[in-house]
Amino acid sequence: MKAVILPRYGGAQDLEVADVPKPPCGPGEVLIRLKATSVNPVDWQLGAGRLDSIIPGEFPLIPGWDAAGTVVAAGAEITDYAVLGYVRRPVAKWGTYAEYTIAEPRMIAPKPASLDWDSAAGLSLVGLTAVQTLDAVAVKDADTILIHAAAGGVGSIAVQVAKARGARVIGTASPRNRDYLVALGAEPVEYGDGLLERVRRLAPDGIDAALDAIGGEEIDLSIEAGADPSRVVSIADPKVREKGGKYVFIDPSSADLRTLTSLAESKQLIVPVSATFPLERAAEAWEASQTGKARGKIVLKIA
Ligand SMILES: NC(=O)c1ccc[n+]([C@@H]2O[C@H](COP(=O)([O-])OP(=O)(O)OC[C@H]3O[C@@H](n4cnc5c(N)ncnc54)[C@H](OP(=O)(O)O)[C@@H]3O)[C@@H](O)[C@H]2O)c1
Repeated sequence: MKAVILPRYGGAQDLEVADVPKPPCGPGEVLIRLKATSVNPVDWQLGAGRLDSIIPGEFPLIPGWDAAGTVVAAGAEITDYAVLGYVRRPVAKWGTYAEYTIAEPRMIAPKPASLDWDSAAGLSLVGLTAVQTLDAVAVKDADTILIHAAAGGVGSIAVQVAKARGARVIGTASPRNRDYLVALGAEPVEYGDGLLERVRRLAPDGIDAALDAIGGEEIDLSIEAGADPSRVVSIADPKVREKGGKYVFIDPSSADLRTLTSLAESKQLIVPVSATFPLERAAEAWEASQTGKARGKIVLKIA
């Protein structure tokens, strides 16, 4: 099969298009023929070896954890249905920048017909992050939540999931993303110097919760803006725990994926895709992601 591989830990310049064997499909796993995948910062963080102590790489390594495609074989039976999923495994080897990948049923969910392939490919990792972080700080009706990096992949979905729960959302972004955030349902606020004052003006009685995707100062600022430390969740900085907050590293969950697809089916959730690249141009897609300026998702088309 065709795949994009890393022969060793490295960066965008080390990605190669290669012909490799299909992944071995073990008991209890399904083989998926992929239509599309998406780029997440963790793909190039892992590619650089930064997750080696948690999820070691085995080479040649096919990056990617977001899957959208068709199940072509399940045990001895041939089935044919569309799925999406977050196919993270204990060792990074058979990722999703390829024509085929493998998954356990707990990692996938049916893809609704109303969700196009690009949106399906962009939903799983960031969607699970949104659901599992909002659950970690119990975001509910009438809460005011501050979402940092609200225009990014995670933020774009977290804004909409929090709104669907009835929360008021304040989202940080640069000025060029103001209208984008308003369209998603957030009240935009510019990050940088003076952010705390701007948040206080919008929420003079204090925020109830915060989702941090940046790390460092954003955690302290969220507490100063009124969030109880136990309701500050970070996906970027485990040190949040030292301040009484929660650090989340997401897990596969078919149930959470179904929550997301039903929100998409009921039109409460869209997956904003800002750029698509053919699989062969994965290196350019990584460079676009590494700018830190991606709006919504960057998708790789496979078939
Ligand atoms: N722990 C986990 O399980 C987990 C899960 C998912 C993601 N993550 C991590 O979370 C981070 C975000 O992921 P992502 O997919 O959302 O990334 P992303 O899509 O690449 O984020 C890009 C966005 O970040 C915004 N941004 C950059 N600097 C900012 C700042 N100082 N304040 C506010 N916004 C800023 C940009 O907005 P502007 O263009 O307006 O500046 C851009 O829209 C990454 O480090 C990723 O590895 C962790």
